[in-house]
Amino acid sequence: MKALLAVFSGTGNTKRVAERMAEEMRKSGHEAEVVLIRKDVPMPAVEGYDLLIVGYPVHAFNAPRAVLKFLKTLPKTEKMPVYLIRTSGEPSKLNDASGISPKRILSRRGYEVKGEFVYVMPYNIIFRHPDGMVARMWQSVELRIPRDTKAILEGAENLKHVGIMRRAAAFAVRIEHPAMPILGKTFHASKKKCIGCGACVSLCPRGNIRMKKGRPHFGMHCVGCMACAFGCPEDAVKISLLNAWRVNGQYSFDGTPAEDAEVGRYCRKMYLRYFHESEDPKEDKKE
Ligand SMILES: Cc1cc2nc3c(=O)[nH]c(=O)nc-3n(C[C@H](O)[C@H](O)[C@H](O)COP(=O)(O)O)c2cc1C
Ligand code: SF4
Ligand code: SF4
Repeated sequence: MKALLAVFSGTGNTKRVAERMAEEMRKSGHEAEVVLIRKDVPMPAVEGYDLLIVGYPVHAFNAPRAVLKFLKTLPKTEKMPVYLIRTSGEPSKLNDASGISPKRILSRRGYEVKGEFVYVMPYNIIFRHPDGMVARMWQSVELRIPRDTKAILEGAENLKHVGIMRRAAAFAVRIEHPAMPILGKTFHASKKKCIGCGACVSLCPRGNIRMKKGRPHFGMHCVGCMACAFGCPEDAVKISLLNAWRVNGQYSFDGTPAEDAEVGRYCRKMYLRYFHESEDPKEDKKE
């Protein structure tokens, strides 16, 4: 089997998960290549592969616009198998609605979407997850990847059902897609903090930032991935109306995982259910 993992990742979480899955595939004797969906990275032709895995972070219960654009560029095919892998900051079932548009676009182009796998990873906006939670999330990924990869390699079917209420909620917040280019245009670098290093320019997957007179300037192609704000070494990027939710600086994934009692009150039940399902997949079946 030769798998192409085409991945959009703003702040590295989805890339990290996809690389872990590719490593697992290689361990079992298969070929796997991770390619980032970025303006400055050419996509290899999918025709050379037996399996396509599309990875993305959930943005406002939807797939990022850049992912939908990429899927629309795929050549039409006869039933190439596809799996979706996604990361999200919380284990909410509302996030399952983010698979609707990718599945529709792919099936119109002749691809056979067989399953979806979900991984909870730390928030890159809204608030910073504590180190213990981040380590527990990664522990869950480590537990899930071997069995999910096995299921993918065996061609298992695992599609999420999304009810009408979740569809409606996701549709309502899809305003993010047309709104982000406008909002992103109002992002700017703090005059006091910015050192003109240009890191934000190379981090942006959409080529939306240019340096002018030693300062970054933001264009009209933002998809709200937060790579610039998260990765700026001086925490200098101001994200306009979203600034109170800004998260800056890489997470460390190898701390001590939080015990159940240390899981905070925010969506506590949901996180615990997700962690317990990771540790014992039978918990999943009990629902
Ligand atoms: C604009 C935006 C919207 C987001 N919306 C959601 C959401 O609806 N649900 C959720 O659980 N996480 C949401 N997140 C969190 C990301 O999905 C999560 O941190 C993801 O792992 C980031 O992946 P990346 O590092 O590959 O970009 C959002 C993040 C951003 C930047
Ligand atoms: S990464 Fe931060 S410090 Fe560097 S140019 Fe961009 S805004 Fe300025
Ligand atoms: S400007 Fe920042 S938030 Fe917008 S696409 Fe580029 S890196 Fe992502």
